[in-house]
Amino acid sequence: MEILTTFNLLLLTGVFLLYKWVNYKMNYWKRRGLLVPDTSSTKTLFQILFAKNSFADRVLILYRDLKSKGVQHGGAYITLVPLYVAMDLNIIKSIMQVDFQHFVDRGVFMDEKNDPISAHLFSLTGSKWKILRNKLSPTFTSGKMKMMFGTLVDCTKGLHKLMDKTNGKEVDIKDVLGRFTTDIIGSCAFGIECNSLEDPKSIFRQKGREFFDADLKQNMKNFSSLFVPQIMRAFKITLIPRDISSFFINLVKDTVEYREKNNVIRKDFMQLLIQLKNEGKLVDDEKMEAEKINEDENRITMDEIAAQAFVFFQAGFETSSTTMTFCLYELARNKDIQEKLRKEIIQTLDRHGGKITYENVHEMVYLDQVINETLRKYPPLPNLNRVCTKEYKVPGTDLVLEKGMQVIIPVFGIHRDPEYYPDPDKFDPERFTEENKRNRHQFSFLPFGEGPRICIGLRFGLMQTKVGLIALLSKYEFSVNKKTIEPLQFKGTSFIMTTKGDIWLDFKKISESR
Ligand code: HEM
Ligand SMILES: *[C@@H]1O[C@H](CO)[C@@H](O)[C@H](O)[C@H]1NC(C)=O
Ligand SMILES: *[C@@H]1O[C@H](CO)[C@@H](O)[C@H](O)[C@H]1NC(C)=O
Repeated sequence: MEILTTFNLLLLTGVFLLYKWVNYKMNYWKRRGLLVPDTSSTKTLFQILFAKNSFADRVLILYRDLKSKGVQHGGAYITLVPLYVAMDLNIIKSIMQVDFQHFVDRGVFMDEKNDPISAHLFSLTGSKWKILRNKLSPTFTSGKMKMMFGTLVDCTKGLHKLMDKTNGKEVDIKDVLGRFTTDIIGSCAFGIECNSLEDPKSIFRQKGREFFDADLKQNMKNFSSLFVPQIMRAFKITLIPRDISSFFINLVKDTVEYREKNNVIRKDFMQLLIQLKNEGKLVDDEKMEAEKINEDENRITMDEIAAQAFVFFQAGFETSSTTMTFCLYELARNKDIQEKLRKEIIQTLDRHGGKITYENVHEMVYLDQVINETLRKYPPLPNLNRVCTKEYKVPGTDLVLEKGMQVIIPVFGIHRDPEYYPDPDKFDPERFTEENKRNRHQFSFLPFGEGPRICIGLRFGLMQTKVGLIALLSKYEFSVNKKTIEPLQFKGTSFIMTTKGDIWLDFKKISESR
């Protein structure tokens, strides 16, 4: 008897303490005087993993909730972890740009020892990130883009071939463009012809899909990596499945060895990475000469090459292919905009003998506007992350962010905010005329992020998006097929904005001569 009561007492005390502790944790923002919208206060891990609405939708709901309360910033929780949500564009500018020194890291899981491929530019922290970013930046200059342009245009041949095979029929545009960008990144980052346009089962495409069409197990890992990274490291759980990481590491090693043995030189990222490995600099980098960069220190290792090639693949193919997909979908719905853009494309190409060149792509102003309006309406990363790396007093407020606090920048909410973009669901490229842009805050448009951690592949991403759209719009006319489920719905757990179902478009060839 006695033992039982003691046990009960202990149990009761335990439950009580647990309750107190959870309560304390869940009142973090209340203690700090920040508003937590109802929509985000009760999310448990279970609710997140099995959420009905997508990650992007949740960003939007959170943003609108805070916006309606007129606050400059707010708080949220995921399980018991508090997150700081920046709302005011000037605060966002301070975090991403002005006071970047306080927010160097992104808070993405990485384990250099057990999972070398996870130590890439997107996830690296502190000085390691800074050093690598400096080494890699020269591979993304406009000169390097120009050099790779031909490799990129070559991939449009496969695209045309595939479209022509299904002429007059409908097309699953997301799938076709996913294969197109896989081919591009495959040949520009890994230097191999991956042929997924012709062969949908190509191993490269499969490995790419496997990682993105992640299952529940991968989702659990993703969330664990965000909230209990210590456990991941302690048990040597890798975020990237072993078979995928060894596939990429071996692919890179084989490619590098093959090129070095056979003196093969190709115009791609891999070549630039090999140069960095062997010489510690890129031959034609005068800036580096001028700054007297220590070449020995600037060299990168084979593992580093593999990790970067992997992140170029990961960050490069899904973002650009969804941008092209959403763009063609909007153009299929807005025929007048499609016609106007086609006119610009065809006239520019005609001025240059029908060829797509690096220069004439940059003459297409309306194309730029159309793509930016697409990126506004559908930012591939609906949400940006930072971690407070040094205690920070938020300017214009009394709030002090502790070191380690996770910061959210709700890009999707900003992009659909009627204060910055009236009638925000309307697709209107005129928003991006020089004049209209001048009237907006610089930080109201963040598809590539901002500040020192801005997307390093911005130029390349825009370039491949433009080339793909030019190749398609100059030859085919698009309209929405009834198999497409409208309004579009975003997929549940993916961090990258993508649709739940396929997007089917009808298309027809314009003329044989093109
Ligand atoms: C339309 C295409 C693309 C979009 C919309 C996009 C978007 C983004 C965004 C929003 C970020 C985070 C920025 C921040 O936190 O401030 C990012 C980072 C990054 N992106 Fe992209 N991206 C695109 C294409 C590419 C391509 C083609 C590559 C590589 C070839 C690439 C490589 C990276 C890398 C390495 C980072 C991490 C940079 C760092 O932390 O220093 N991206 N991207
Ligand atoms: C579109 O966005 C890109 C990237 O932010 C920028 O460099 C470009 O100037 C923008 N163009 C227009 C027309 O807004
Ligand atoms: C899991 O994380 C990886 C890397 O951060 C990401 O590419 C992938 O899309 C995530 N998977 C899901 C289902 O969110």
